[in-house]
Amino acid sequence: MTRTALGAPATPIPTGRSQRSSAVSVLLSHWTGSGTVPSLTLYPHQWSWDSAFIAIGLRRLSPYRAQRELETLCGAQWGDGRIPHIVFNPAVPPGAYFPGPAFWRSGQAGAAAGAPAGIDTSGIVQPPVHALAAWLVHESDPELSRRRGFLARLYPRLAAWHGYLADHRDLGGQGLAAVVHPWESGMDNSPCWDGPLARVEPAPTGSFRRADLTHGAAADRPTDEDYGRYVGLAARYRDQHYRDTAASHPFAVEDPAFNAFLAVSEHALASIAQSLGRSPVPHRARAGALTEALVARLWDPQSGQFLCRDLVPDALVAERSVSGLLPLAVPGLPDPVVRALLDTLSGPHFDLGAGSTGLVPSYDLLGGAHDASRYWRGPAWFNVNWTLERGLRQYGARAAADRLAGAILTTATASGFAEYVDARTGQALGSRDFGWTAAMALDVLARS
Ligand code: SER
Repeated sequence: MTRTALGAPATPIPTGRSQRSSAVSVLLSHWTGSGTVPSLTLYPHQWSWDSAFIAIGLRRLSPYRAQRELETLCGAQWGDGRIPHIVFNPAVPPGAYFPGPAFWRSGQAGAAAGAPAGIDTSGIVQPPVHALAAWLVHESDPELSRRRGFLARLYPRLAAWHGYLADHRDLGGQGLAAVVHPWESGMDNSPCWDGPLARVEPAPTGSFRRADLTHGAAADRPTDEDYGRYVGLAARYRDQHYRDTAASHPFAVEDPAFNAFLAVSEHALASIAQSLGRSPVPHRARAGALTEALVARLWDPQSGQFLCRDLVPDALVAERSVSGLLPLAVPGLPDPVVRALLDTLSGPHFDLGAGSTGLVPSYDLLGGAHDASRYWRGPAWFNVNWTLERGLRQYGARAAADRLAGAILTTATASGFAEYVDARTGQALGSRDFGWTAAMALDVLARS
């Protein structure tokens, strides 16, 4: 396909059936037999939150594969309940991705935390979208789900996963889960991490080799300096055997999106428990407590959005990331919070629907650190916009939700299922044929 200078396809935007078949072909080609890789080149293993979003789209194609996706991921769960952010495929050559199994050494360094024998994983986590995904996958074919005992097998694992976050990651002691590495937020180089990350000693230059730059343009990816800090921080956690205590983490942040996904997933766990004939009450209570803690700890009325809380100085981070709008997906927010979030979304910082793509950027359009093409410092991401669409719909903003759904589908397809896009122009950035981009498009298409 020929491309314009902006990277957008020069051919007319496909519609209906051809949109579906191009999204389907991405998901089919990325299927390994037990899960889906986010990208055949840049991310050739199974990633935790990618798999959750991919399962949400995959259910429209094959509810069976969507169930397998989540089962495979949960099969790599650690004894302490954590679901690792990467499950490595042993068939992939060691040099294809860094940091790989030889860096994380999950079998040895993770032994005390119960890393599974015989499966190589990373030792950090990613946003807990999994119970939401499991519930949506179940709903797409309840009969198959019951026949396979899908929810009955997944429920204890998902409950243990949330238990890990409650028992080991409430580093602030106020009812929210903390991330201990920028990669755990999934929004690796968000400007929110610049301050907290400055405390971290970078790994010496030359002590590691970035594999990501072989497949992605350097200007679209995190800088070398950030990467050195990511590696240094992960090595430190590994060398402490992945133990979680407030004192052991130089980087400890309460992230609104991470906790919003946890609250939404806790509501999904309530539905799962109920459908298994168990009481949903403890899960509803926990979801309610998480929602209250989100508002009490991270809501900033002056900004009209949630902010991250850096636990080392115990202070809010004065940066507007889209992370602070994602709690819109959480049910039961106080009315004034919802109204302010809707205003902020459509205001000048995020301009919902105003750019030519109609997508919401990952970071403040007016922020000093805004960079329209660099990963999580400005570009629009499809899983994020899918979650915002859910939030808009939930709080009655139907017209805006419909427009956003249309924007997801149009730009996902027109960009060749780009990993992320320039929020204003739609220029394709990062990897193409990206797993969750195709999955989100497929999900939207199935509803339209
Ligand atoms: N997103 C990170 C990477 O770029 C880690 O999961 O590899």
